[in-house]
Amino acid sequence: SDGDRVPALVIGSGYGGAVAALRLTQAGIDTHMVEMGKSWTTPGSDGKVFCPMLSPDGRSFWLRDRTVQPVSHFSGGSVDKNISRYVGVLDAEDFGGIKVYQGRGVGGGSLVNGGMAVTPKRNYFEEILPGVDSNEMYSTYFPRANAALGVNNIDPAWFESTEYYKFARTGRKTAERSGYTTTFVPNVYDFNYMKQEAAGQVTKSALVSEVIYGNNAGKKSLDKTYLAAASATGKLTISALHVVTSVAPAATGGGYQVVMNQINEQGNTVGTKTVTADKVFFAAGSIGTSKLLVAMKAQGQLANLPGAVGQEWGHNGNVMVGRANHMWDATGAKQSAIPVMGIDNWADASAPVFAEIAPFPAGTELWVSLYLAIAKNPQRAQFQFNSATGKVGLNWQRSQNQPSIDMAKKLFDKINKKEGTIYRTDLFGPVQTWGDQLTYHPLGGCVLGKATDGYGRLPEYPGLYVMDGSLVPGNVGVNPFVTITALAERNIENIIANDMN
Ligand code: FDA
Repeated sequence: SDGDRVPALVIGSGYGGAVAALRLTQAGIDTHMVEMGKSWTTPGSDGKVFCPMLSPDGRSFWLRDRTVQPVSHFSGGSVDKNISRYVGVLDAEDFGGIKVYQGRGVGGGSLVNGGMAVTPKRNYFEEILPGVDSNEMYSTYFPRANAALGVNNIDPAWFESTEYYKFARTGRKTAERSGYTTTFVPNVYDFNYMKQEAAGQVTKSALVSEVIYGNNAGKKSLDKTYLAAASATGKLTISALHVVTSVAPAATGGGYQVVMNQINEQGNTVGTKTVTADKVFFAAGSIGTSKLLVAMKAQGQLANLPGAVGQEWGHNGNVMVGRANHMWDATGAKQSAIPVMGIDNWADASAPVFAEIAPFPAGTELWVSLYLAIAKNPQRAQFQFNSATGKVGLNWQRSQNQPSIDMAKKLFDKINKKEGTIYRTDLFGPVQTWGDQLTYHPLGGCVLGKATDGYGRLPEYPGLYVMDGSLVPGNVGVNPFVTITALAERNIENIIANDMN
């Protein structure tokens, strides 16, 4: 509460924050976590915590009057719906050149993501973060992260037989006929639970399309793993619906003064609190942490932060596209919302792409193959403080996604040519082939070893640390949360050993 002093304060409850909270509390340190979204534990009037995917209500989006669905159109019309303004679980933050989708709530992105738990290719990890000992990462921290996240694999025999993965088998068949390699992708969704869903033994979640507005069952989101373990120590407190607005050195007694607004479920500020913390861990995500640090540097609260703060932001080369299959290559009326297969063309320098074969769960057969491609797009952007508005912008231009389109186009043109098929041009606008105006994978803005020391410390301000996706320089070649988690495991171990006596 207002005026408190705490040993450790963590801003944000996604992957970086959850790792910090667990390891700090296990080390015996009282830890306070502040999260702008709500704690998703109380069912609504329909008996469900999260709203249905195909009939979204206010619980779907963060403070909007209308949904902004990633696949926004179908057959010439918008698929968006009016909703009531509420602190919903999925934010689509609009920076002009790009919409950045992020989770809001206790658990951060783990509440809304597809659960794909991919360890990056070692040679690419070494290329993007040369200062990190990759032996340690691949022998200790990636395994530690995968274990604590509860990563598991689909039973291949069940995959081959279930109607719910027909879309993925069709995606595999068409890719392989063009000479591309496909690979199973691990996940944090419990595949035993999913089998029971298919058998009609438990309440369906992934198998009734639940994913980006939250899963009511089955998924091991962070509130079920890292955060549950941290709470079990008795040393973690979480303040949900609190938005951190400022961090500055405390006037007396050392540590940092953290100012936050308490909001209600309609997003209105209902109070302001100031807390002093000996150590502050920025884990508000690539966007949230970068925005806070860039604003604090520009406004003078943390004026000595280095110039690298706010730099090297990228969107992991995300681009989406759909193909129209022939009638004899059905994708299934029933589709699991959890992707389990990718086309791995990363080693091909002319089209370095890792493309997830995504479901298109509409409840009826549509013969659509949808893909979320991660391309090796070298483009980067910067965060900038606007003194006129007092807000932080991101100068990414939509044209910067052309390299992703070019790379993905090579791959999918080849498949279309071989199959004699065409792109869907009605999914991302009235007439638009490429979903190039959005990302699920914001990365960078406070890069490890550049804006921070080699372990996420902000050396100009002893006791300030960065823990989240802002440490990763713009592109990691696969879905990012396993990398974010493993880096946080590595960094917090060093910080606890050296900075917490
Ligand atoms: P993360 O965004 O998880 O957490 C930051 C938290 O801080 C949020 O809860 C936010 O509300 C809070 N916050 C921000 N500013 C604040 C402030 N000022 N005060 C208080 N709190 C604040 N990745 C993957 O590996 N596999 C996948 O399958 C997918 N799929 C996917 C689907 C969708 C729809 C999305 C949106 C994202 C994915 N991702 C994904 C991406 C993945 O979820 C993402 O990379 C991680 O959640 C990022 O983890 P961080 O710890 O960096 O931040």
